[in-house]
Parts: sequence; C-alpha cells; structure tokens
Amino acid sequence: MSQKVVVVTGAARGIGRAIAEKFGQLGFNIVICDVEKDLVAATAKEIGKLGVKALGMKVDVTQMVEVENLFEKTIAAYGRVDVLVNNAGITRDTLLIRMQENDWDAVIAVNLKGTFNCTKAAAKIMMKQRTGAIVNIASVVGVMGNVGQANYAASKGGVISLTKSAAKELGSRGITVNAVAPGYIETDMTKTLSAEVKQAFLNLIPLKRPGTPEDVADVVAFLASPAARYISGQVIHIDGGMVM
Ligand SMILES: NC(=O)c1ccc[n+]([C@@H]2O[C@H](COP(=O)([O-])OP(=O)(O)OC[C@H]3O[C@@H](n4cnc5c(N)ncnc54)[C@H](O)[C@@H]3O)[C@@H](O)[C@H]2O)c1
Repeated sequence: MSQKVVVVTGAARGIGRAIAEKFGQLGFNIVICDVEKDLVAATAKEIGKLGVKALGMKVDVTQMVEVENLFEKTIAAYGRVDVLVNNAGITRDTLLIRMQENDWDAVIAVNLKGTFNCTKAAAKIMMKQRTGAIVNIASVVGVMGNVGQANYAASKGGVISLTKSAAKELGSRGITVNAVAPGYIETDMTKTLSAEVKQAFLNLIPLKRPGTPEDVADVVAFLASPAARYISGQVIHIDGGMVM
C-alpha cells in the first residue's frame, strides 16, 4: 500500500506546524501550505528530518486557483490525499461597532471560505478514493461567541456548520468530516493578548493551564486515524474543560 498523505493548511508555524509534525511522526507524507513563503519552506525542511517526504507550498487558501494548484501538485507528488486539516486562520479583533468591513471580510475569507475551498478540492480526490478524513480547526469562540470577535466567532461557527454539512454529503463515500474547537492555546495568535485577558481565560479553565499546539495535534491525529472511523460530523473541544 502506498504511504498515506496529509495536507495541512496554515502550517508554517503554531498549531498547524505541530499537526504536520505529528503526522510526520506517524509516517505520513506531508504537504503543508501557508502564505508565509520562506517560513513554510523552512518548516517543511525541518519536518523532512523526521524521515518522511515533506512539501512546503506558498498558498493563499482564499484563492480557489491556488488551492486547486496545491491539490494538483499533491497528486503529482504522492498520488493521493488521505487527510486534510483545515487549520489556516486569522483574527482581526475589535468591538462590533468599530469593526470595519475589511476586518469582517478578511476573517471570513481565510477562516470560512478557505475551509470551503480546500474541502471542495480535497473531497473530489477523496470521493474517487472512496476514503478520507477531513479535520477542521474551529474554536470554542465559534460555539460560545466572544466580545471583540464577532467576525472570528461567525467564521468559526460557520466552520462548524460546514463540517456537519460536509459530513452528511460525503459520508456515503467513506469520508469522515469533523472539527476540533481549541480553547486558549499558546501560539503567536494569542501571545499579543494582555496579561488580564490571559488570566481571565485561565480562571475559566478547570485544568488551570493554557493548551499547547501538541494538545491539539494529538486529537487531530486521532480523528484522522482508523480508531475514529465511526466518528463524523462532531466537534471535539480541546480546551481544558473551559466550555462544557
Ligand atoms: N491559538 C489559539 O488559542 C486558538 C484557539 C482556537 C482556535 N485556533 C485556530 O487554530 C488555527 C491555528 O492558529 P495558531 O494559533 O496556530 O495561529 P498562527 O497565527 O500561529 O498560525 C496561523 C497560520 O495560518 C497562516 N495563514 C494565515 N492566512 C492564511 C491564508 N490566507 N492562507 C494560508 N495560510 C494562512 C499564517 O501565516 C500562520 O502560519 C487557526 O485556525 C486558529 O483560528 C487557535
């Protein structure tokens, strides 16, 4: 059997990078993409040291043409796509009444449309294979909403609904589609939060620590594994118990 292949978006750093490394440790061939051209190339090189093939591509997930090219190159290199992880995401936080149209559009474009673009392109391949797993990185904010994050909350709520619709459409072809909802994870995205906001999050977390990218990567790997073959359309919280 040919080696399994995973595509991870927004994987130059942070949670996406940890997910790609996890799949590398599991022996997958890796394709990572990101808008950060140099960083994605450097990260792919690092992952290659695990002894797997790793391809790093500069791709903006909001652009369907670039996404189609990503999957064409993946098929040309490895011949299949077993797992897609839709991880690329951004924030543009501000209060609703101050939010500019471009703050709204940018976040919806990357987090929601980007997930749609990659899911559509991967689904065409996985439907022919009659097997595949798609894992979307949502957020607890997409479940509970958050002050200053109307755009981000709407995008992640949309990702959760997209996950369920895709699970219903693709299930008969042997494809599972699930989402994870991380809470407060220490990455570049959260390092700019004020000490007060970080403490307020910690007060809400029964496990009394922030999450790590590896905490997320382990659950994503499980959802893409044969052990999770009868799980689809679900949203698994990875938040130390923050939202229950
Ligand atoms: N850090 C957290 O606390 C947290 C919590 C819940 C959910 N998440 C989600 O996890 C995912 C990863 O976040 P992170 O914390 O690692 O943040 P991060 O900013 O470190 O990583 C996000 C990556 O996505 C890339 N990216 C941005 N726009 C892109 C585009 N148009 N096309 C391709 N790549 C693009 C960035 O360059 C970056 O490398 C995001 O979807 C985020 O919303 C994070």
